[in-house]
Amino acid sequence: MEVSKNINNVQQTVLKMKREGRMIGIVPTMGYLHEGHIRLIEKAKTDNDFVVLTIFVNPLQFGESEDLNAYPRDEKRDLDKAEELGVDLVFLPNEKTMYPGPLSLNISVVRRADVLCGKSRPGHFEGVAMVLTKLFNICQPDNAYFGKKDAQQVAVVDALIEDFNFPIRLNPVDTVREHDGLAKSSRNVNLTSGERMEAPSIHQALEFGKDLFCRGEKTAGKIVEQTRQFLEARTHGKIDYIELLSYPELEVIEEIDQQVILAAAVFYKKARLIDNIIINKDGCITM
Ligand code: PAF
Repeated sequence: MEVSKNINNVQQTVLKMKREGRMIGIVPTMGYLHEGHIRLIEKAKTDNDFVVLTIFVNPLQFGESEDLNAYPRDEKRDLDKAEELGVDLVFLPNEKTMYPGPLSLNISVVRRADVLCGKSRPGHFEGVAMVLTKLFNICQPDNAYFGKKDAQQVAVVDALIEDFNFPIRLNPVDTVREHDGLAKSSRNVNLTSGERMEAPSIHQALEFGKDLFCRGEKTAGKIVEQTRQFLEARTHGKIDYIELLSYPELEVIEEIDQQVILAAAVFYKKARLIDNIIINKDGCITM
């Protein structure tokens, strides 16, 4: 496994792979790998000849009051895991490498970003779009892998690939959950033991909302309201949002007559957790 912090080295390696006709898969991460990332890497290994794992905690996507400094990191453990999983190249840049000076350009995400996490985290998806544009240009992947837990991120990456004509196929991968339904996340380690006990109620609330739909309720506002009541009764965490929107367009709807996302975000003391369910109009698909 090659490990590089250097953009030129990575570009040379991937160029060589491309010349040899190898298919390249990228798994962009901020490290502290968990089961969710492992599934992404395994899927990338199955689909490609050469897998690039990127590990970079991107400051551009964190707001001033957010958890950039508290974001968990463990480089050695991540590299051991990557080696074990058969990753071919780990790109591990530092901040100076990715952002050597002030940027002259920025990317504004004008759709799909003013709702859900984008509303509570202004600038977040601009930061994600910028770093992914750089990583896509550096690593030249044929396939890119993202977890469906970050469904809004998947929708924004879908738009980024489409609008900027990246010759990349987007591969969303199912959310991996703990035994009690809590979506796996690097931020789960920042929960207190009491919060950890309550946190599965986020997934339970979304399942409850999905069941309302499956039993015939089609009014978005009613599903959102009852899901909120369900969750409020089961957690002390502060609900940031519960929203039901069309997916992947992320537009506000009143009646459900298309694929939608029911999504929630909850603030605990040192972690903000998100989760979602995608509901297909012909049935229900959980993500
Ligand atoms: O999902 C993440 O971990 C990050 O948003 C990503 C895609 C690696 C960009 O920094």
